[in-house]
Amino acid sequence: MNIIFLGPPGSGKGTHAERCGQTMGIPRLSTGDMLREQVKQQTKLGLEAKAYMEAGQLVPDEVILGMIRERIIAPDCANGCIFDGFPRTEPQAEALAGILTIDAVLNLALSDEAIVDRMKGRRCCPDCGHTSHTSWMNGENCVQCSKTMIIRSDDMPETVLNRLQVYHAQTKPLIAYYERQGLLRTVDSTGDVSMVFERVREALS
Ligand code: AP5
Repeated sequence: MNIIFLGPPGSGKGTHAERCGQTMGIPRLSTGDMLREQVKQQTKLGLEAKAYMEAGQLVPDEVILGMIRERIIAPDCANGCIFDGFPRTEPQAEALAGILTIDAVLNLALSDEAIVDRMKGRRCCPDCGHTSHTSWMNGENCVQCSKTMIIRSDDMPETVLNRLQVYHAQTKPLIAYYERQGLLRTVDSTGDVSMVFERVREALS
């Protein structure tokens, strides 16, 4: 089964895609995480992507599609996968449709005001990538690997506003695109994590 998690930055795609992937036994493919790993390793791709990411702009389609084509042929994707943060443009969606069949698109809906609020408290582990929030964190360390959690470089307030603008201009049109294909399931992402996860689970059942 191949599922896309769609939604604005900070709407909870990573959090819920991770849980769904664990429940369903299929991997979560986050293009954001893949790019951050390339930046960390200082690869040619990472150096190219860094400036786009720090400005809150999208990385060019051909770079993203190259990464995805390489990743989905790995054995762990044999039974499907969950795409988190991909596709983000119509050309990416068209290219994906030419590679595999999508079974469902889960759209997480959240207002811009709520997003800005969530991003202020987000903390990420620089080592294992675990994401959490200051409202329920107990201390500054990652619960998975004990490293000190950090603020993502693109979570600065002015970059978050750019990312929201980019989302509205370039990614939001995919809602109508997938609705026309009868694949879209929209879930209200307001409320606490377990409440939203229950809605996600129901929408995908
Ligand atoms: P990416 O890493 O994909 O960022 P994003 O889409 O902007 O999404 P986020 O990871 O910021 O948020 P999320 O929706 O996963 O929310 P989360 O679960 O963390 O992309 C980063 C950059 O890479 C892009 O700007 C672009 O430059 C580039 N890029 C990536 N993919 C690309 C592509 N396909 N094409 C081109 N460029 C690409 O939750 C947010 C916070 O809320 C957390 O702290 C969480 O704990 C908290 N929270 C509070 N309540 C809840 C709740 N009820 N549910 C879930 N989380 C909650």
